[in-house]
Amino acid sequence: MDGRAETGNLGAYLSRIGAALDEFLLAEHGDAMTRHADWSMALDRPLPVEGVGGEAVIEELARTVIPNGTRLSEPGFWGWVTAGPGTIPAVASLAATVASPQRYTITAFNRLEELSLDWLADLCGLPGHMKGVYSSGGSVANLVALGAARQWALEQAGIDPAADGLGSTPVALPVALYASEEAHHTVQRAAGVLGLGRRSVRHIATDDRQRLDLTALAQALADDVAAGILPLAVIATAGTTNTGAIDPLRGAGELAREHGAWFHVDGAYGLPGILDQRLEPLYRGIELADSAIVDPHKWLGAPVGIAATFVRDRSILHRAFTQESSAYLEGAFAEPDDVRVSLDSMGVPYADFGVELSAPARGVVVWSILRELGRRGVRERIRRDNDFARHLASRVRLSNRLELVAEPVLSICCLRYRTEATDDLDALNAALLRRLVAETPYLPSSTVVKGRFAIRPCFINARTELEHVDAFCDAVIRIGDELALSIPAASLT
Ligand SMILES: Cc1ncc(COP(=O)(O)O)c(C=O)c1O
Repeated sequence: MDGRAETGNLGAYLSRIGAALDEFLLAEHGDAMTRHADWSMALDRPLPVEGVGGEAVIEELARTVIPNGTRLSEPGFWGWVTAGPGTIPAVASLAATVASPQRYTITAFNRLEELSLDWLADLCGLPGHMKGVYSSGGSVANLVALGAARQWALEQAGIDPAADGLGSTPVALPVALYASEEAHHTVQRAAGVLGLGRRSVRHIATDDRQRLDLTALAQALADDVAAGILPLAVIATAGTTNTGAIDPLRGAGELAREHGAWFHVDGAYGLPGILDQRLEPLYRGIELADSAIVDPHKWLGAPVGIAATFVRDRSILHRAFTQESSAYLEGAFAEPDDVRVSLDSMGVPYADFGVELSAPARGVVVWSILRELGRRGVRERIRRDNDFARHLASRVRLSNRLELVAEPVLSICCLRYRTEATDDLDALNAALLRRLVAETPYLPSSTVVKGRFAIRPCFINARTELEHVDAFCDAVIRIGDELALSIPAASLT
């Protein structure tokens, strides 16, 4: 092997890999752990001196690697807020890898980057003036949004934080961000990375349905203003990770405005929930957002690695994230009115709107989903998933051995088994979840809601059917009964 890349064999290789992936998706291969010894022995070798060649690599991929992948695509996988991608976006992603390895220059891919962002904003009910930029996930998307918030808020105080740094003020300017205690922890990390400090995030109490408590928010804002602290941003979550709660967007947005703070909406998971007309009123106030994020790699079924940040004015992003000019980029391209070949221009300069320079063309993937399904198809998916959570909740209500830990709003249903046989329902349910994951095809994750352990299926998996939801519910009751019967003979830990 001499290090040259092959051309002309993609079709043959992809048909072999496509067949292996189709087989993988049938989910008849069992869990990779059961064959751990085999695949780790086959793979754990020293760096080869001589390569085996493309054909052999494709064969190893098909035989040893793919069948031992993760179970995220199985219909019963409902852990965290993640699932396997849809088929069309997975293929679109591969197409971009080959035909547009970067998102820049005047190509169909650069155009689809912008078009799909506009479609996505429209799909999620964001105001028409909001413009976006893709990044790798909700963590970075929140960071980019809060970078814009930092830029805007400190510019009001005469500081350019991106250019001059936070230490450029003659006197220290303490700032605070406000998010509910149920907000995603990436908000804290973003505050840390942006130099605002994780401790500048105020964890505002939630009400009995895990939503941001507006009275507590108003009080925290007033206390900080009285103490000379600048309220930099109010962050509301549209679809919390734990329970799917939607914060009161209008109230939070109005309080942000009143205090001159930026209003950010983290809709990484739940923003597409606006498509379910039954829930649409809960999203009122989204039009007040200065920034919002949504992760197509969550509910829309894109392959992992795609989130979008939208802001009301992308020039703020430019000021917050510009790299300044560089010899290797500036001057390499023609003026916009002298574009003759695709490489004459960068196209939309996304590198200046976020933290990535090199980045894949992600827009084509989102475009493929929206072209394939249309608004109606996405809406049906969202409604179906929300219905799964509602159906499960109704079964829980009908059973004297199950209880709801949080009423579903979107597609998350937090429940647990209950019995008089033990006072320690947290331990019992933790043991139940371990058995469920080991013994059945159902893979929810867990959470703690107001101090109570819950089994937490999150239905965003487009391969799930109602029969899986019912079988999961039956399995929870069966395993719970078995555990309850074995108390106190067996340890629950
Ligand atoms: C509400 C919310 N925000 C942010 C994130 C972080 O997203 P990512 O895992 O894509 O970085 C998540 C992840 O589940 C989330 O649920």
